[in-house]
Amino acid sequence: MKVLVVGSGGREHALAWKLSKSPRVTEVLCAPGNPGTARIGRNFPIPVTDLDGIVAIAVREGVGLVVVGPEAPLCLGLADKLRAAGIAVFGPSADAARIEGSKAFSKQVMAQASVPTATYKTFTKLEDAESWVTGAVVYPMVVKASGLAAGKGVVICRDEAEAIATLRAFLADRTLGDAGATVVVEDFLSGEEISVFCVTDGATLFALPASQDHKRVGEGDTGPNTGGMGAYSPTPFATDAVMARIEREVLVPTVHAMSTMDCPFSGLLFAGMMLTRGGPRTLEFNCRFGDPETQVVLPRLKGDLLELLLAVANGSLENVSPSALEIDPRAAVTVVLASGGYPGAFAKGFPITGVEKAEALPDVLVFHAGTAFDGAGRLVTAGGRVLAVTALGADFAEARRRAYEAVGHIAFEGMYFRKDIGARASAARGGSSA
Ligand code: AMP
Ligand code: GLY
Repeated sequence: MKVLVVGSGGREHALAWKLSKSPRVTEVLCAPGNPGTARIGRNFPIPVTDLDGIVAIAVREGVGLVVVGPEAPLCLGLADKLRAAGIAVFGPSADAARIEGSKAFSKQVMAQASVPTATYKTFTKLEDAESWVTGAVVYPMVVKASGLAAGKGVVICRDEAEAIATLRAFLADRTLGDAGATVVVEDFLSGEEISVFCVTDGATLFALPASQDHKRVGEGDTGPNTGGMGAYSPTPFATDAVMARIEREVLVPTVHAMSTMDCPFSGLLFAGMMLTRGGPRTLEFNCRFGDPETQVVLPRLKGDLLELLLAVANGSLENVSPSALEIDPRAAVTVVLASGGYPGAFAKGFPITGVEKAEALPDVLVFHAGTAFDGAGRLVTAGGRVLAVTALGADFAEARRRAYEAVGHIAFEGMYFRKDIGARASAARGGSSA
């Protein structure tokens, strides 16, 4: 069977790599893909938001399954168009993708499902929002643009002045365009933040191993937010008891509520969870795999990813063989190599060396994200997050040692990475392998 992966990041390279291991996959196509996916299969240079173009490729190539990486095409209705064309797709309908595309909707689902989350209020009028945050509330407080904002839509406000400035920027100045036309104002939660992936066809669901992202650019979780500077899995904070509680209190009721709300969710439901002293609370839902969490979760999946994703697409997850969900107990760590200056301005086009040497190490995988070939066919930097270097090890110490050894072989001008990825897991040993 031919499969088509939509997207061009490290997540999509990891999906393409894992799908290529399936005995039933004859060819992996990527739209648009990157130099990493080009080595696995065939790339089609087309933007992920060109829905008709992607459907046309899938039809022309006789693709048996389309796996959609990013949220934007899902929110625009790519899965609906593919299904209408008779093509199996792993990814939710536009209606169901609102769980990520609209934080106001996501909060409605949580309320309907009684999912534990921060107390909140939704606003579209600046005066109402301003009077809500004036005086009575406790700071810090969180102001979120409801729509998709590429990671720029959440501001943790330390005081009233910052809250009002943020509300004005979103609601009046429309700094995020329509994404900020509705805002959610909610309580600040503190604790360990973990990422929980759950595959579901709308009726049956399975949680994959939990992971932890490192969102801040600087060591010790300092500096501005990024798309993610690294991740590790399993996380010692997600004990079996915590995972059972998340499944019972968050995943099952959410999947059920979406079915009763006439927008059944099929695909990957990603719950961003804060493990607070009062128990797990849901920060957000995403309608797709996380990046860079996928680069540590998929290498730990021993089963056949095609079988699992096809069962979701066909609504037969109930009958998937348990072997499709078998997990490697080893630890995985991924270190993101970024362009100097990221998440601010950065230069591109610097030659990258040492990838082959890094990949040749045992239990090391190098996933491409912001890379390209230049006119002379050399691999060069082409984005903020350039590569994600994953290693597996018997424990976190070994996985970290291998990942950083591999990183040591790779070089490009201005290369920046965090040296403390997975350090908290090593320090907090004793958790389970949830
Ligand atoms: P979101 O786009 O909703 O995932 O928010 C981005 C990031 O902001 C999350 O990953 C958290 O680190 C942080 N965040 C969001 N909501 C809250 C909250 N209520 N309390 C504390 N941090 C939050
Ligand atoms: N790593 C967080 C995300 O993919 O949204």
